[in-house]
Amino acid sequence: MGNRPYLTWHKSAINKEDRQKLNNHKSCVLWFTGLSGSGKSTLANALDRKLYTLGMRSYVLDGDNIRHGLNKGLGFTKDDRQENIRRIGEVAKLFVDSGQIVTTAFISPFCEDRNSVRNLFPEGEFIEIYVKCPLDVCEIRDPKGLYKKARTGEIREFTGISSPYEEPLEPEIVIETDKQSLQKSVDVIVGYLQEHHII
Ligand code: ADX
Repeated sequence: MGNRPYLTWHKSAINKEDRQKLNNHKSCVLWFTGLSGSGKSTLANALDRKLYTLGMRSYVLDGDNIRHGLNKGLGFTKDDRQENIRRIGEVAKLFVDSGQIVTTAFISPFCEDRNSVRNLFPEGEFIEIYVKCPLDVCEIRDPKGLYKKARTGEIREFTGISSPYEEPLEPEIVIETDKQSLQKSVDVIVGYLQEHHII
């Protein structure tokens, strides 16, 4: 195992398929990506509520929340964002292994980092959802007042202003939050899960 010579992988007694059978649905990661203020957390939570009412085992990992705990020590340099996304990818993989539908709401601005996470999963288990919203709309919304601070230079390396956001090239789903209602957006994602026989 390369640089892990004294570790041995212990095979689980109960595997992912067993847990999926128990839950009566498949597991996957719904990977939301988009600018700050694009609506990722709002949509993730509305979707989670819907899945809950449908009796699905689901969970949301949210950027701002995870940065309070697991990823407390990380900032917003390219390297720190990469490590942030790498760890979330690994956590998401554990959730999928536990048989759940996990939704992640992180800006995840770099294609390379998102693709590294995609490569952790077999085909069909990583569903990239581009939460698309023009920068000027996000800036008008400015729910946390951060764009204003980014414009004055109080916050540096702010995504969309002083740090890049790379749009996904081939996301499985695109949700345009300035054009579609929240309800319609939830329905589109639930419809995708049904069409692909995940739920
Ligand atoms: S990511 O780029 O590493 O994926 P993540 O989604 O975890 O970012 O965190 C983004 C959240 O942190 C934003 O919604 C915002 O509330 C806050 N934030 C604070 N500083 C920045 C910054 N420089 N760039 C982007 N978001 C920031």
